[in-house]
Parts: sequence; C-alpha cells; structure tokens
Amino acid sequence: PPGRCCAKTCCRINPSIDKENPKVVHAMDTSDLGNESAFCRCWRSKKFPYCDGTHNKHNETTGDNVGPLVITVKKS
Ligand code: FES
Repeated sequence: PPGRCCAKTCCRINPSIDKENPKVVHAMDTSDLGNESAFCRCWRSKKFPYCDGTHNKHNETTGDNVGPLVITVKKS
C-alpha cells in the first residue's frame, strides 16, 4: 500500500552506513564545528555524517532532490 515500507533494502534510506548498529546517531559539540559545516542527508557520503557531494550523483541517478544541511557558526 502507498506510504508503507516494503522492508526491502531498496526502500531503506540508509543503504550502507554503520549497518551493524540498530540506530545511527552522531552527537557533536558546536564548539568543534568550523565556520561552516555541511552534514549529509542523503546517507551516501563516504565522509558521513559530513557531506562529500555524493548527493549530486544520487539526484542525477534517481531524480531525487536531496542535499546537505549546512550549518554556519557565527563567531562573536
Ligand atoms: Fe549526502 Fe551531500 S553527500 S547530502
């Protein structure tokens, strides 16, 4: 039915990152971020949780439109 997962690997958002873990979680301190950080939301980056640009290939291949979360830290 529409909206329900078929439980097949092709339907999973995360195809390969830390699959041995039941839940992938990253915690970061904002003081450790540089002036700008881009975090992967396509789950295909080789530098996960950081974006490495792989989303561009994913979008071209699938017609998807995903991109990173970009965080800019303002230094006072
Ligand atoms: Fe995943 Fe850029 S590589 S959002």
